[in-house]
Amino acid sequence: MAKYIIKQEIEKCIGCGTCVALCPSNWSMHDDKKARPIKTEVSEPGCNEDAENNCPVECITISKE
Ligand code: F3S
Repeated sequence: MAKYIIKQEIEKCIGCGTCVALCPSNWSMHDDKKARPIKTEVSEPGCNEDAENNCPVECITISKE
């Protein structure tokens, strides 16, 4: 089964919340006002792709393993 790895360059995150709005099933805001992925390995990219494509600082990348 395909596996997708979700990476975030946390230092670039400006905490805009777009990823959480578009993909609440796998993104959440933390106390430091930055978002984090809940899972970093998924079998289908799903809405993580929307997060990747719409993050204003392009700090989310999804790669297929
Ligand atoms: Fe941060 Fe990008 Fe999400 S700036 S809050 S990772 S959309």
